[in-house]
Amino acid sequence: MAKQKTLLVYYSRTGTTRAVADAISAALPCDAEEIVDTKNRLGILGYLRSGFDAFFERPSALKPTRYNPADYDLVIVGTPVWNASLSAPVRTYLTMQKGKPKKVAFFCTYGGSGSRRVLGQMAEACGMKPLDVLDVREGEVKRGEHWPRVRDFVASLIGRVQAAA
Ligand SMILES: Cc1cc2nc3c(=O)[nH]c(=O)nc-3n(C[C@H](O)[C@H](O)[C@H](O)COP(=O)(O)O)c2cc1C
Repeated sequence: MAKQKTLLVYYSRTGTTRAVADAISAALPCDAEEIVDTKNRLGILGYLRSGFDAFFERPSALKPTRYNPADYDLVIVGTPVWNASLSAPVRTYLTMQKGKPKKVAFFCTYGGSGSRRVLGQMAEACGMKPLDVLDVREGEVKRGEHWPRVRDFVASLIGRVQAAA
């Protein structure tokens, strides 16, 4: 995996998905990029807007991203679950970058339900089957219990990328 290039891309509204992304990048050398949405998603109105946008698959307006997924052997994408649906910023990113990644893996963070549906929606949005997926509950992250599963996820990805090389 030393020669494999990995890009980690994620969106986080309140920091939970960012914490999992930080744990992944601590275990795996990679370029990391946070998706920045221009829509205000803070407060109660932002919360409601986010749930609506995710459920109705409305695109968002993102700030330009720095890295090109086509330049990497593996692209890992992370999202929070919104209304049992893929978050609007990550749906927009995956749709915009469709056809560029060589291999993908996905992770999501969530309160308690909808993670499997969202991981399926990520595959649909980018038109690719992931090498592996990880879903982490917000509570696990708050208690600092996410590290072992993150390390297993990274180890699995390293094995799968090497097997496919
Ligand atoms: C608009 C909205 C809708 C949500 N809907 C769900 C849901 O359907 N199921 C769930 O388990 N968690 C849901 N959550 C909780 C988030 O998925 C969870 O807090 C996540 O870890 C937040 O990640 P972040 O801090 O990176 O933004 C929702 C959060 C928001 C803001």
